[in-house]
Amino acid sequence: MTQLTLQGVTRRFGVLTAVDAVDLSLRVGECVGLIGPNGAGKSTLLALMVGDLRPTSGQISLNDTVVTRLPVPARVRAGIARAAQIPQIFDRLTVSESVRLPALYGAGLSDTQARAEAAIVLERCGLADKAQAYASALGLLDRKRLELAKALAARPRILLLDEIAAGLTEPEVEEMVVLVKSLRDDRAILWVEHIPMALREACERLIVMERGVKTLDGPFAQVWSDPGLQAVYMGVPGDAAA
Ligand SMILES: Nc1ncnc2c1ncn2[C@@H]1O[C@H](COP(=O)(O)OP(=O)(O)OP(=O)(O)O)[C@@H](O)[C@H]1O
Ligand SMILES: [Mg+2]
Repeated sequence: MTQLTLQGVTRRFGVLTAVDAVDLSLRVGECVGLIGPNGAGKSTLLALMVGDLRPTSGQISLNDTVVTRLPVPARVRAGIARAAQIPQIFDRLTVSESVRLPALYGAGLSDTQARAEAAIVLERCGLADKAQAYASALGLLDRKRLELAKALAARPRILLLDEIAAGLTEPEVEEMVVLVKSLRDDRAILWVEHIPMALREACERLIVMERGVKTLDGPFAQVWSDPGLQAVYMGVPGDAAA
């Protein structure tokens, strides 16, 4: 069974410890929510998993292979992909071209296969009618969808989602929840979001991070009812905790 494992993963920026000795494993078939106040280290943790950053110490493995020092492209080919908090969009590419690239270089498909894959992924993410539009012309919801589509086109077994629903309206968030739920069968999903209700619908496990430390990790309902959790949320904007 495919599994991503972090052992004692720490990342410092100067004197700041953004991620502090995190142990964590993700298994294919599970959808895991990750919450914590602004600056808790969630995005840094995902950046370490996908290879955007190297840990100061600790080890990351995908099954039996240590991937700690692999750069992003190699890690994507190994099966780890992330939809970033700030969509990484090339304004001069069309939506379809943007999704074909990870299908070619991430999933390793041929040109013909990548075209077909891009069409399937765009349909799934609700972007089929915008395939020929320039990415620069997209609004926020569609940029978020495109960022997710790019990650999916790499055909990851480990899919990392960083605030793909942030800034969306309630019905748009609901659409994202439905989409994420449809993705979980043959993947592990780790979903960072400040919208607990969205995570509750999609995830059966919840992790809480605070000041770089993983403070809670377990079945969603159990973690959600932990007395420490609302205290953590005191540091989060009111609408996020609602
Ligand atoms: N490249 C960097 N250089 C220096 N400090 C950084 C860097 N990236 C992140 N940090 C710091 O590390 C801490 C964790 O940041 P991170 O972005 O991981 O938090 P987060 O939990 O994703 O927050 P948010 O909910 O606001 O997205 C913060 O104090 C941030 O300022
Ligand atoms: Mg973040």
